[in-house]
Order: sequence, then C-alpha cells, then structure tokens
Amino acid sequence: MTSPTIESILHEDRLFAPPAEFSEQAQLKNLEAYQALYERAKADPEAFWAELAEQELDWFQPWEQVLDWQPPHARWFVNGKINISYNCLDRHLTTWRRNKAALIWEGEPGDSRTLTYAQLHREVCQFANVMKGLGVKKGDIVGIYMPMIPEAAIAMLACARIGAPHMVVFGGFSAEALRDRLNDGKAKLVITADGGWRKDAIVPLKEQVDRALENNSAPSVENVLVVQRTQQKIAMQPGRDHWWHDLQQGVSANCPAEPLDSEDMLFILYTSGSTGKPKGVVHTTGGYNLYTHVTTKWIFDLRDTDVYWCTADVGWITGHSYIVYGPLSNGATTLMYEGAPRTSNPGCFWDVIEKYGVTIFYTAPTAIRAFIKMGEHLPNARDLSSLRLLGTVGEPINPAAWIWYHRIIGKERCPIVDTWWQTETGGIMITPIPGAIATKPGSATRPFPGILADVVDLDGHPVPEGEGGYLVVRHPWPSMMRTVYGDDDRFRRTYWEHIAPVDGQSLYFAGDGARRDQDGYFWIMGRVDDVISVAGHRLGTMEIESALVSHPAVAEAAVVGKPDEVKGEEVVAFVILEGAFLPSEDLDKALKKHVVAEIGALARPGQIRFTDALPKTRSGKIMRRLLRSLAAGEEISGDTSTLEDRSVLDKLREGA
Ligand code: WTA
Repeated sequence: MTSPTIESILHEDRLFAPPAEFSEQAQLKNLEAYQALYERAKADPEAFWAELAEQELDWFQPWEQVLDWQPPHARWFVNGKINISYNCLDRHLTTWRRNKAALIWEGEPGDSRTLTYAQLHREVCQFANVMKGLGVKKGDIVGIYMPMIPEAAIAMLACARIGAPHMVVFGGFSAEALRDRLNDGKAKLVITADGGWRKDAIVPLKEQVDRALENNSAPSVENVLVVQRTQQKIAMQPGRDHWWHDLQQGVSANCPAEPLDSEDMLFILYTSGSTGKPKGVVHTTGGYNLYTHVTTKWIFDLRDTDVYWCTADVGWITGHSYIVYGPLSNGATTLMYEGAPRTSNPGCFWDVIEKYGVTIFYTAPTAIRAFIKMGEHLPNARDLSSLRLLGTVGEPINPAAWIWYHRIIGKERCPIVDTWWQTETGGIMITPIPGAIATKPGSATRPFPGILADVVDLDGHPVPEGEGGYLVVRHPWPSMMRTVYGDDDRFRRTYWEHIAPVDGQSLYFAGDGARRDQDGYFWIMGRVDDVISVAGHRLGTMEIESALVSHPAVAEAAVVGKPDEVKGEEVVAFVILEGAFLPSEDLDKALKKHVVAEIGALARPGQIRFTDALPKTRSGKIMRRLLRSLAAGEEISGDTSTLEDRSVLDKLREGA
C-alpha cells in the first residue's frame, strides 16, 4: 500500500448505498432531499444561507444585507450582531440541554472529566473575566499553546465571548515556530500548560513558551497563563506568568457575551503554503458560526443522543470547527481525548469508544492506516456497537483503508463521510451526506449545498468528465477565509489569481487537483503545489528548506515528499553542504534535530541525502519532479530536456 494514486483509487469501484436503517432516521433521508437542497441553494445562495442563519442561530441584532461581495472580499450578514460563544453555550441553558454533557474529556493517564453545558458556561465566563482582569480587550489577540485538555476549549470560547481573537498554535510546534506566530499576530497574552501528555511522556509546553519569549523576542506578549496539568517543575516569571487556578479563585462567573459584529475576527490560524512563511488565515464570527453549525448538523446527522468524537487536535482547523464550535453550537456532546495510540496502549481509541459509547467517530486516513498496521485484534476485542457513523479528513483515503474502516470499525453498518476541506474554507466543502449520498471508496463525493465546486483548467473552463484539473469554488460561502492576517496582497495572489476569472467572476483556488466522474462525484488528487502532507499535517517544502539552510553547514536544500505507507508522505531532504563540511551520520542527526527545533517534530526529515548538486533547469529552478521520482526510487520519466546538467541525476542515483 502506498499513498493513493488515481490508479489505486480506480481499483475499487463498488458503490455503497446508505444503509436503510440509517437513512430512515437521518435528517436528509435520500438523494432527492439532497438534490432539492442543492438546487435551491444554487439558485439563490443568499436566500438559502439567510434562512438557515435565522433558523439555526441566535442573533443580538439582525443583519442588513446577507452578502457584500467585493471579490475577493466577502462580508456575510452585514451589520448583524452575534456571539458564537453565546450560540455554543448560553442559548442551551434555557433548554433541557442545560444539564447535558457538553464536553467529555479523557486524559492520557486515564483521568477524565465531564462538563455539562451549565458547567462549561460557568468556566468560560469565569475565565473570560480572568482575561479581562489581565487587561485583555476586544480585538486583542490571544495565543493558545495547549495540550488537549478542557481548558483549551474553555480558553477559545472565553476569547470568543469577549471578542479577543484566538490564535491556537499546535502544541507540537517548536518554540521558534511559536515565536514567529506570536510576533506575526502581536499576541498580548499566551495561554499554555506546564506540560501535556503525549505517548507516555510529558511535552514541556511552558518551557517552550519561555524559550519563545526569551530576551524579549516576542515583545507584544504581556502575560502568560499556565494551566497545571502534569505537575512537573517549571519556572514562573514573576509579573508575567500566572497560574490559571490562582487567578480563577473567587472570580465572578457573570460575563455576558459581547454582541460582536458578524465580521469581527474570531480567530487566526496559521497554515503552510507553497511559498514563504506560514499564513495567518483569518476567520470571522457570523458566517463561520453558521457554516460550521449547519455542516456539523447535516454531515454528522447529529442527534441529541449522540456521543460525537473527532480525534483531531484543537491546534488544527478540524479541532476548531468540529471539536469545539460546530458540535457545541448544535448542543451536542463532544468528546476530547488527550492521548494517542502508543506501545503501552495501542487499543486506546477503541477503549474510549467503548467506555463512552461513542456514536460518531471522525478521524484521519493516516490514523486508519496506522490502526491497520497495529492489527484488527485490537478493535475486535472491544465493543464498538455504539458506532453509527464514521468520518475521515485531511488527505485522500486509499480504498484499502476505506474498506478496512468500513468492515472492521463500522462492521459494514456505518456510513463513512470522506470530508474534503481546508483551513481556508473553515468548514467541510465536499462530502457525502450520510443518509442521502451513496459512497465510493476514495471519493469525497459531492459538494455541500451552497458550495458551487468545479474542476477547471488554468483559464477557468470546466475540464471534461474524468479529466484532472484544478478544484475551485465559484460562489462565496459563509465560512470562507477573509484574508491572510497582515498581508491582504498575499491573500489575493495565493487564492484568487491562480485561475483566470471567467465572465468577470473570480474563482477560489487553494491548491488541490481533482477530477469528476460520470456521476458528478469529486475525486481529490492531492496538492498541485509544493505542499506535502505528513500524517495529515500540511507542510510547505519551502518552510523546511528555509529551516535547513539556516543551519551553518547547509548551503542549499531541496525538500520533497516520498510516499509512505502510513503517514501518506515522508519528508526527504536533498542537501548541499558548505565547503568546510563533510557528510556524516552526526551531521545527518544534527540537521534533523535542527528542523525539529525550527518547526517541530512533525517536519522531521525521514531521510537526508547529501549531494554536490541539485537538478536544475537552465533558468535555475530546482526540478522537484525529478527529485520526487528519485526519492520514491522510481525511474525518471517524462521530459528532462530542460535540465541544465544531466550528470547530476546519475550522481544522485549513485548516492542513493
Ligand atoms: C487535503 C484540513 C483529500 C487537501 C481540514 C487540502 C483532503 C488540505 C481531504 C487541507 C479529503 C483535506 N480528501 N484531500 N477528504 N481533506 N485534504 O488546511 O489537500 O490542514 O487542501 O485542512 O488537506 O489541509 P488543512
């Protein structure tokens, strides 16, 4: 098994109809229901979204205009006043959901905690007051660098409550990466923990924060709030660092949600692109609330009896939209798990499903491939009969993994929703609606109502059925990103100028190739840019190259992805050393360590290949296509006539 290619996808062409017992009880029961919604939304997207916004959300003040579209800038629900923390919490308190479990949390060492809607509301209000006490005001940006503990969600909701945009940085990122982001966003406050549990070890989060802030290198940060999680000794800098539990003592739990403008910034989340530093993707309040609410409701077919578990980390968009905001806005029970499968407990995911009676399970293909390797005896030894719906996200799922998921986890009873979307889109864009759309393993099937997706060529014209092209979206949707933080020009260039406008209409393009089959099903073919996906984590090759060349021994570096059975792709770095340095095992180790220090463990090269030269075109561009073939151990095929020095390839091959 390798990462999916179009050929491997084509091997499996069975159609899996939604199970009858699922459809009968589903919110959208058949294809006609989906099609009717899709057509209605397509005919008048604004009316479609306005109706849902009125039905599904609570507003402090109605909007005056549904959409103001000045390509590429959209404003949704103009002048409407809303608060997503109110929609996720307060409005449930006057219903029977008041004492329903909002958040079920399971810690890696086996400790656990359940917060009802009333309890979660109280904690969020108190914590919002703690932040206010530290001088955090509407518009101030708050960095969150946390393990997967309830306080991460509480902090996000508290920020949303007072209109302070949060900027969550994945806990696996290094101090360097954290510092860059804190500086880019000019964060005023950082919320972290003494540490977090990860595979039986402690991740020293506070220590990383100290490193990120040392010598005043992130001068905007005034305060650091620390949750006590692992109890190991850490340094607390007087005046700057405070324990969460100390400041929470005796603080009032009365903190009404601030009526915010629909377009007030809700959060910034950084993601990798093909060039330069990670981009701060900006999402705003009203449209994001609506889109994540409706997608969660229909795609996961939520019912009040569900225990919904999304295994992502809150450091990624999936955690934002589908652990915190979407489920809570719907009044669902969302489960958060701190741990990961590890040698001491490889079956821990299945334990969690059995323990809490999880009904909806949403994970990543890379996790599924890892489960396959660990063996089906692990899930087979647990009672998974509570499950009724499965989901995947993050990369194309190879049909073999899909079938395993369907058979071993879903016991051939549970529909699978393969959901395509991005940090930039805010919510799921292409996906089966589980009671309505028959699935084909490897295909994300059809666009969500209101999403006018297409596959086009560079001129913006649709490509014929079955042919590959660029995946685009034609009409704005409520949760689309609004800009790149601090760099609107980059927003325009990256997403809106790649494909030519058609009839004056701009097309959104964020880097994926796709094709559409005879049934109108979309097959995502992966990134067409220099972004690679390692275990579902998006990494720009440029970012890793910059990290490598910042090491004194490195003169030049080129990074490509190599197919990997479990992780999808592995990082392979081709490195030219500075004159005085010679290749060695120690240097190999040192460079890997350096990349981890610069970016984080997720970017650690699986392989470093030392070389004297890189294959370049006559104009000096590195021919990554050739490097990819070399890394994969394939024959070089295709045109090499633009290569400046052909002997480079032979040398690289010998070097391997
Ligand atoms: C890829 C994660 C195929 C795609 C939500 C996209 C997928 C990138 C799928 C976004 C899927 C995500 N099938 N590919 N179901 N879901 N991708 O921003 O290349 O971390 O552009 O958002 O992941 O990654 P991001």
